[in-house]
Amino acid sequence: KKRIVVLISGTGSNMLNIAEHCQESKSQANKINGDVVAVIANRADAAGLAKAAELGIATEFVPHTNFANREDYDQALVERVQSYQPDLIILAGFMRVLTSVFVSAFTDRIMNIHPSLLPKYKGMHTHQRALDAGDTEHGVSVHFVTEELDGGPVILQSRVPIFPEDTAEDLQERVHEQEYRIYPLVVRWFCADRLKLTEEGAVLDGALLGAEGYA
Ligand code: GAR
Repeated sequence: KKRIVVLISGTGSNMLNIAEHCQESKSQANKINGDVVAVIANRADAAGLAKAAELGIATEFVPHTNFANREDYDQALVERVQSYQPDLIILAGFMRVLTSVFVSAFTDRIMNIHPSLLPKYKGMHTHQRALDAGDTEHGVSVHFVTEELDGGPVILQSRVPIFPEDTAEDLQERVHEQEYRIYPLVVRWFCADRLKLTEEGAVLDGALLGAEGYA
């Protein structure tokens, strides 16, 4: 079984969904061949920490305050993550930019979920930006993490429609439903050794995934 460490900053609903897919209760077909061995948050008030603890998962709070720069924080984070000897690191609403100190310590083993159809809308406030642009569709991307912010190779995307009366909250909710479908699926592929990050990009079952992902 693969060892998974999840980094969060808030609610942790994606973390919880993935943890549940690792546990026996889910159907065998959807089961992830892995264990969430730790959940680490950079904020003490991250609600996901308590939820993970309820599932019997080790939790840690690694505050980003009191560090001179991002690199120093990332080095502290590397040490905490490393202590769990993870095969895979999952960013699930972890709202910090990671430097090369972190990314290079776990090459090819970090994934993120980002609430937009990358390469559109990197960064924050993606739902509002899609509305402001008058887009008719929006979505979510799971991608490998590289040193370029929200720029690593896309693995899988899911699209949702935007309706005329939508608010950012409506859109966030619609996107969340898709997040709960695609993130566990991608993690399952990785844990079954079907998915890899290569120099060319993300490869599933030996086939290079296109710039916009598999779906
Ligand atoms: C998710 O919608 C995720 O896509 C987004 O944060 C939310 C976390 O929700 N991530 C980012 O915006 C990353 N830049 P959760 O804590 O309930 O899983």
